Amino acid sequence: MSFFSVLAAVSSLTATAVATSQIVPVTEDSGFWFGNFTVGNSTNLSLLVDTGSGDIIINPGLYKAGSNAENLHENFDNSYGTTQSNGGGTIEIKGPLYSDIVSIGKLSAKQHIGAANNQTGIPHDGIVGFGPSSTEFPGPNAMAFVETLCRDGDLSECRFGLALNSNKTGSLILGEVEPSLYKNNLSLVPSSESWTVNADIYVDGSISNSDTSVVMDSGTATIVGPIDQVSAIFNSTGIQGVRSGGSLFGYFPCDKPPTLGIGLPSQSDAAAAAKKHSPLLSTTTTLFNISSDQWAIANNGHNNCTALLSGQDFGESIWIFGQAFYTGLYVDHNMKDSVMGFASLDSP
Ligand SMILES: *[C@@H]1O[C@H](CO)[C@@H](O)[C@H](O)[C@H]1NC(C)=O
Ligand SMILES: *[C@@H]1O[C@H](CO)[C@@H](O)[C@H](O)[C@H]1NC(C)=O
Ligand SMILES: *[C@@H]1O[C@H](CO)[C@@H](O)[C@H](O)[C@H]1NC(C)=O
Ligand SMILES: *[C@@H]1O[C@H](CO)[C@@H](O)[C@H](O)[C@H]1NC(C)=O
Ligand SMILES: *[C@@H]1O[C@H](CO)[C@@H](O)[C@H](O)[C@H]1NC(C)=O
Ligand SMILES: *[C@@H]1O[C@H](CO)[C@@H](O)[C@H](O)[C@H]1NC(C)=O
Ligand SMILES: *[C@@H]1O[C@H](CO)[C@@H](O)[C@H](O)[C@H]1NC(C)=O
Ligand SMILES: *[C@@H]1O[C@H](CO)[C@@H](O)[C@H](O)[C@H]1NC(C)=O
Ligand SMILES: *[C@@H]1O[C@H](CO)[C@@H](O)[C@H](O)[C@H]1NC(C)=O
Repeated sequence: MSFFSVLAAVSSLTATAVATSQIVPVTEDSGFWFGNFTVGNSTNLSLLVDTGSGDIIINPGLYKAGSNAENLHENFDNSYGTTQSNGGGTIEIKGPLYSDIVSIGKLSAKQHIGAANNQTGIPHDGIVGFGPSSTEFPGPNAMAFVETLCRDGDLSECRFGLALNSNKTGSLILGEVEPSLYKNNLSLVPSSESWTVNADIYVDGSISNSDTSVVMDSGTATIVGPIDQVSAIFNSTGIQGVRSGGSLFGYFPCDKPPTLGIGLPSQSDAAAAAKKHSPLLSTTTTLFNISSDQWAIANNGHNNCTALLSGQDFGESIWIFGQAFYTGLYVDHNMKDSVMGFASLDSP
């Protein structure tokens, strides 16, 4: 699920706690990944882990104030895109704002919380953002949970990783990078605060779009691109495109999925990093293909399957790579250096 908003400047670090790192389990359901959080006095909340947004929203009736809770006497009105399992859908969520303690495992932070008034359409108990906080969440303390942990000096390193297996289990790695989970080296690419990278899109092993903005969004189930670019890919691979609402959906013969991949860093960024001898960035491109068994998100019978890839225009020429891409990979989000790292899991 995505917000396209701007991050407020992060204030200077005040280290009060002992810096640490930890690995907590996450589980997949219907294309989305969930972790077990405590918010105020509500324990055992199953919250969607979303790098495409930055706020914490709890579904109606589930938020119970803890002893440190503050009512902020303000309301939020958030919008999310790509909320459905097929990559379409938008939702609007409103409600009052609180400040309260949020924790996962042994890590805790005082955090802005949105308590949704109405049924949200967010599965399970709510959502926790690991991207930039939205402008709907006011004040200097409204930042993503992981940024608060970072600011408070709770994390050994200001970074988190997602290692998502294909069997619906995975790990959220907080405060470190865990090389035992992946093969080879991370492919390191420059990233914005909203986990947007510059990449080349590959179809059947050849570049179809070079130097494209790609939002890495664990809270989107599928792959979504600009309608004209997706339409061109559909036409070149024999996929039938059908417009529905604001989206372009694709239908393909189930036994003939194409191969969609992404080159990280893009070839031009790899060449630029080689010239600069930057130790933080990779100087060669690695191609990550999405496994072809992920291409069908629905089987409509008669060898007609709905494609993982769909088109939607967000006003800019933006691609969103969601859960289907993350599956089988280790994805490191390095907040200190604004770098993302990608590698295949040791045992996907
Ligand atoms: C979630 O964590 C709580 C304690 O924080 C624990 O009681 C509960 O069993 C955990 N639930 C799951 C599904 O792991
Ligand atoms: C925690 O929540 C899960 C469902 O999300 C439930 O199966 C489990 O029983 C709950 N555990 C506790 C200790 O409440
Ligand atoms: C939260 O739970 C604690 C421990 O059970 C309790 O002492 C406290 O009164 C609760 N807070 C609120 C605001 O209900
Ligand atoms: C949302 O919740 C408010 C207050 O709880 C209620 O009055 C309103 O009818 C609800 N709106 C929708 C669209 O369900
Ligand atoms: C990983 O990077 C190191 C240092 O650049 C290099 O020596 C090593 O060969 C690389 N390993 C692999 C598997 O590419
Ligand atoms: C990606 O897929 C293309 C097309 O099937 C294939 O030629 C290429 O070898 C694959 N690359 C990797 C790294 O899997
Ligand atoms: C793809 O083909 C359809 C049907 O022929 C056409 O309407 C559409 O404009 C084509 N898309 C592109 C990007 O050329
Ligand atoms: C595939 O199924 C979709 C959805 O039912 C339909 O819109 C489309 O026309 C079908 N395509 C073919 C080639 O049968
Ligand atoms: C899922 O896959 C991972 C990685 O291969 C493995 O370590 C784990 O035991 C598997 N879990 C289940 C429940 O199958």
